[in-house]
Amino acid sequence: MCGIVGYIGKRQAAPILMEGLHRLEYRGYDSAGIAIGNKGALRLAKRKGKIRDLEELKPQRFKGMLGIAHTRWATSGAPSDRNAHPHCDASGRYAVVHNGIIENAAALRAQLAERGIAFSSETDTEVVAHLIALMDDGSPLESVVSAALRLVVGTYGLAVIDAGRADQLVVARNGSPIMLGIGDKEMLFASDAAAFVRHAASIVHLDDGEVATVRADGYETRRLDDGTSTVKTPSALVWKDEAYDKGAFRHYMRKEIADQPEAVRRTLSGRLDPRFQTTHLGGIELAARDLLDVNRIRILGCGAAYIAGVAGAHLIEQLARIPTQAEQASEFRYRNPVIEKDTLYIAVSQSGETFDTLAAVQEIKRKGGRVLGIVNVVGSTIARECSRGIYLRAGPEIAVVSTKTFTCSVVALALLAINLGRLRDLSHAGGARLLAALEALPDHIAAILAREAEIAQLAQRFARAQHAFYLGRAAGYAIAQEGALKLKEISYLHAEAYPASELKHGPLALITPETPSVIVLPHDDLLAKNLATIDEIKARGGPVFAVTHPGDTPVPVDGSFVVPKLTPELDPLLLNIPLQLLAYHVAMARDCDIDQPRNLAKSVTVE
Ligand code: F6R
Repeated sequence: MCGIVGYIGKRQAAPILMEGLHRLEYRGYDSAGIAIGNKGALRLAKRKGKIRDLEELKPQRFKGMLGIAHTRWATSGAPSDRNAHPHCDASGRYAVVHNGIIENAAALRAQLAERGIAFSSETDTEVVAHLIALMDDGSPLESVVSAALRLVVGTYGLAVIDAGRADQLVVARNGSPIMLGIGDKEMLFASDAAAFVRHAASIVHLDDGEVATVRADGYETRRLDDGTSTVKTPSALVWKDEAYDKGAFRHYMRKEIADQPEAVRRTLSGRLDPRFQTTHLGGIELAARDLLDVNRIRILGCGAAYIAGVAGAHLIEQLARIPTQAEQASEFRYRNPVIEKDTLYIAVSQSGETFDTLAAVQEIKRKGGRVLGIVNVVGSTIARECSRGIYLRAGPEIAVVSTKTFTCSVVALALLAINLGRLRDLSHAGGARLLAALEALPDHIAAILAREAEIAQLAQRFARAQHAFYLGRAAGYAIAQEGALKLKEISYLHAEAYPASELKHGPLALITPETPSVIVLPHDDLLAKNLATIDEIKARGGPVFAVTHPGDTPVPVDGSFVVPKLTPELDPLLLNIPLQLLAYHVAMARDCDIDQPRNLAKSVTVE
């Protein structure tokens, strides 16, 4: 998704902004641009393609102590040099970068065109630059920008530079994140703290409907609608610069897969309570009495976060016997959902910025429901909107596809499931068994990762396939869904997850010797059923690969990867680790862009 970074201070802005753009690359983009202010004029460079294409225009040499820069992920107007941001008014005095969508752009364009204004791009953003130029009556830039934005319907995280006002930049937010980074006599801002962690010590998140004037020595925030001042409290940056490094790994995805043992340790840290064999979740801020009143749970998220919710729903139902369902946040928010008083809603999101998940949270809150957030990014919009929940503490996830945050989200839901279970029928011994298994989880994950070569070999047998099935039952089905999502996202191989029980109701027709099936085969009470599914596929000549546990009965498959049995509720999580590596190695064999798969963005901040 689009990224914004801005700088004002005592140093040359361009190198800092170019570095910031590189930090935003992971989010996915199709063009980039920069505007630097100096001596009453702006210098602009923008280009379709990668940041290295922009660098060919040598923007890093532009002189000036303030500037704004942008990575674009096209929404209105195809990716092109002219549609890349920043966008300027006709005089070239004002430049704007923008994330989000201006819904009334067509009407505003028509009105501006009637006044003789010619457009130089097809974007919605350009209207804002022209509106600002028209409305500038010499008032403070912040009030001119606010007046322009009051004419705009839609979402924005937006930054404005005015060549005539070299001591300030203005940023505004409505539905798309903007945060300020406070440095040493310099200020930065961005749509993602990754862009400025190296230069800032603390952070301030703008809220929707806020506008800020940013100067080298500080900032002022106001409400966009009536101009009243707002009070913000900076917080320390949680993730330092090193956390964003790839280290010796070739891809962020592989690094983040390797991060998992440590990430899970951090998710667990301080949350296991061996005295009562339960878990301690201070952030949920709900007393035992409130939790006992919960009769139903609904978990919301998108993509892998939704699938983590499916796995978590199984855990909660098994351990706490509370009816629990996961649903895609994007579907939930549009079906006028019934919000029940005795239902606990949980939003799962790595970034804490996914638009559909945020909208679902807002819909629940509007109707008086209670929502907990299971979120990785501290201070993100969903985390703040929920105000209570469980932080994953997984560290930054840079690869577009989620790996460690999927695992940590399921672990967080397991912590909640144990907590709810211990308030109900889960015994002391049951709690002790699960806590011991959670503590052992990081070492088990590390042991699986050490056997990467086995998976890499298996992956060669998938590399030439066009289609694959991922099959599982109950919790195994959630893992099949996640395995298939990873494979399709990074290897572009068509992978379809199906409940193993449903295969004979249709998809069996697609089984051929060229269509491999991956079956998630925990040794649970559905093992015999899953073995029957394997027979069905084999009888139609389909190759079958299993992720399973060591056992006495040989499983009649064409290849398998065995992981140790830990405890039934957590075994599916372990079975997922080889599937992450499988997707990674298939994508390697197919020479795909693993960290930035085509058409995808990290954090989907538009509808
Ligand atoms: C899949 C993936 C996406 C995200 C989804 C939600 O590997 O990364 O499907 O899971 O876009 O993102 P968050 O968790 O940031 O809300």
